[in-house]
Amino acid sequence: MDSGALEMNCVKNGKAENCPNKLASQAHAHDNLLSVDNDAVADREKVPKPYLDESKFDVQFKLWALRIPCQHCKVATRILNGYLFDKPRVKPIIEDPTCDKNRYLIFSDKVQNPDLSDIPKQKIDELNGLCKIEVVPYSLTLGYSYWSADHVLKQILPTGVEVPSSFETIGQVAHLNLHDELLPYKDVIAKVIYDKNYPRIKTIVNKVGTITNEFRVPEFEILAGEHNMITEVKQYGATFKLDYSLVYWNSRLEHEHKRLVSMFQAGETICDMFAGIGPFAIPAAQKGCIVYANDLNPDSIHYLRINAKINKVDDRIYAFNMDARKFVSQLMEVPNTEATSQLSSEVPILDTCHTCRIQDNAESNSKNELLTGDVEAHETGILEGVRRKGSTNKRIRSSEMSVTKTWEHVDHIIMNLPASALQFLDSFRGLIQKKYWKGCLPWIHCYCFIRATETPETIIAVAESALNAPIQDSKFHRVRDVAPNKAMFCLSFRLPGGCVKEDGQ
Ligand SMILES: C[S@@+](CC[C@H](N)C(=O)[O-])C[C@H]1O[C@@H](n2cnc3c(N)ncnc32)[C@H](O)[C@@H]1O
Repeated sequence: MDSGALEMNCVKNGKAENCPNKLASQAHAHDNLLSVDNDAVADREKVPKPYLDESKFDVQFKLWALRIPCQHCKVATRILNGYLFDKPRVKPIIEDPTCDKNRYLIFSDKVQNPDLSDIPKQKIDELNGLCKIEVVPYSLTLGYSYWSADHVLKQILPTGVEVPSSFETIGQVAHLNLHDELLPYKDVIAKVIYDKNYPRIKTIVNKVGTITNEFRVPEFEILAGEHNMITEVKQYGATFKLDYSLVYWNSRLEHEHKRLVSMFQAGETICDMFAGIGPFAIPAAQKGCIVYANDLNPDSIHYLRINAKINKVDDRIYAFNMDARKFVSQLMEVPNTEATSQLSSEVPILDTCHTCRIQDNAESNSKNELLTGDVEAHETGILEGVRRKGSTNKRIRSSEMSVTKTWEHVDHIIMNLPASALQFLDSFRGLIQKKYWKGCLPWIHCYCFIRATETPETIIAVAESALNAPIQDSKFHRVRDVAPNKAMFCLSFRLPGGCVKEDGQ
């Protein structure tokens, strides 16, 4: 609170003066501002629930003002530069409440005498040359609503307790990560952050415990505001709707989503095994890729479908709700029908596109029926739309004809489940059949954590062991540090030839 000494001036003898003890010294400040509401003791946590007395933040300034005709305001302001009240968001020029032809120029608190003897004579002479000088008393109160969250919290929290400096925003939800020391103050911290950020922020939540569920969704406690965690966020021009209490979302991955999608080309086929609500899938589809996006969490897939529609790419995204291992094998294995009938490449594109494969097979007993059988989305339009009429997305139309069979070609496979994605790599052993595959093998983008005790070589060894094949030319990209000794990386490599099932195998 560097400016706090001035900000918390107290009124003495009709003048604003610096409080000698600056809020009676920080050690006792919070006792004055917070009182314990014994009736509101939170039973569960057995901590006193603090109550914020907003009036304690009122700071009254007894100042002087120059009463001056409107037309001289500009020149007088220039002359008095350095002697006028100077605080963010407070205008030193205000209307004269008694006459609309005049203004008040409010002096700073360093002008303590109505004879203006604190101002150099030369300036006073200049003013006198402009108009008749009339000085009036002026009283100004800056209250709770004026002070910043940081300022208020510094007054409230005990000395030595670090003020929470930032929070993550997910649309109108603010996500705090309060450490144990701050938990007794969580309600008042949330109230201040809410008050100071409303209406941009409408709900304040704090993460409770560590994430243990497989959907990677933290448990939250709503501390202030609306009990509604359905929100919308924007990333690189796409809009994502989500319920932050039900699905995984991490705004800090925005750059990574962008980086990876920048590697994709229009018309490429992308398979996202752990797609969440679509932060890779949606922009990839916007770019003109065909995307097969899967997530085990039904709520993620629900929002992925909504987001595909919001962003007008529902004709590009195929959404699946199943375990990633099952998804990728069903997507890329050669279907029985294909293996027996050996459809030739002369078959018209309409009959060979993946949409048709899924829809055709929905009536048969093939394994693609199994695939669609687990997918709620195909009934709702996401799987229907590759050839939707009236699509306005020109880029998408231009690459429509490049839709391929996923057992013949996929360009990129995204595996963003850093805690365990490496263990899913065994799904690719013998999955691709050489006889049917066309073009290069797919790029695998497998996210992982690397601890200080591990090296890229350790990770490669784990990946190779899962694939049962040596990896050539791998690339590691450091995504972000998640803890002092732990960072998230993206390991990218082409699926090794050793994973491919040779003819006759
Ligand atoms: C770290 S999140 C990544 C989500 C999204 N790709 C993103 O970048 O925001 C991992 C996702 O994998 C999903 N998931 C976890 N286990 C899964 C599994 N066995 N199969 C498919 N999805 C799974 C979770 O529900 C979660 O949405």
